[in-house]
Amino acid sequence: MSFIVAIDGPAGSGKGTITKLVGEKLNLINIDTGATFRCVALNMIQENIKIYEKEKITKMLNRINIEIKENGDIFLNGNEVSKRIRENDVNDFVSPISTVQVIREKLLDIQRKIAEGKDVIMEGRDIGTVVFPNANVKIYLDASAEERAKRRIKQNQEKSIESSYEDVLANIIDRDKRDSSRVIAPLKKADDAIYIDSTNMTIEEVTEQIIKIIKEKQG
Ligand code: DC
Repeated sequence: MSFIVAIDGPAGSGKGTITKLVGEKLNLINIDTGATFRCVALNMIQENIKIYEKEKITKMLNRINIEIKENGDIFLNGNEVSKRIRENDVNDFVSPISTVQVIREKLLDIQRKIAEGKDVIMEGRDIGTVVFPNANVKIYLDASAEERAKRRIKQNQEKSIESSYEDVLANIIDRDKRDSSRVIAPLKKADDAIYIDSTNMTIEEVTEQIIKIIKEKQG
């Protein structure tokens, strides 16, 4: 039987960093579902497919190949795209395309298959509500929009991606609105998820708290 930890929360809440650290410490495979949406957005950009071109989207989804390697590297149709999917054009396109039903259905299937039979820590927006409603542990990680924008800038700097505070904050607020107001699988805390506000917490504090929660569940 597999053990599943679901970490949901808005953009920049620290999900990526925390999930990676907790996964390493507890030997859980780390699955970043946002990266799968980013791969679809990138594939559409590459093939110049518009959001309303449903037939083209379906054809593209039939041949798409998304791989998440054990070290976290992301491959789209055989090419390494880990850094490319964090660039601005993908940032702007990913939230709109994540509202398209056929895309969500296909990615739901891919995400469940990636986790099949494994012990995983999976991060996203709808893991505890839709992808794995029976997950063993559910966490909803939050932080203020301003704090999240600061964290994103720092992350971008580390990856040598240039960005201004105003642009990043505007993108975060816009994505929060879209992600939580969409009809299918909106960003929302599952009723049985544990809420953690990390605005004034260090990465270590959040990591420790989550590890404690998981260990208690593992018995
Ligand atoms: O976590 P991220 O910023 O890389 O996610 C990119 C986008 O993908 C986000 O704006 C919404 C979408 N997403 C989603 O709808 N459901 C998920 N489980 C993960 C991401």
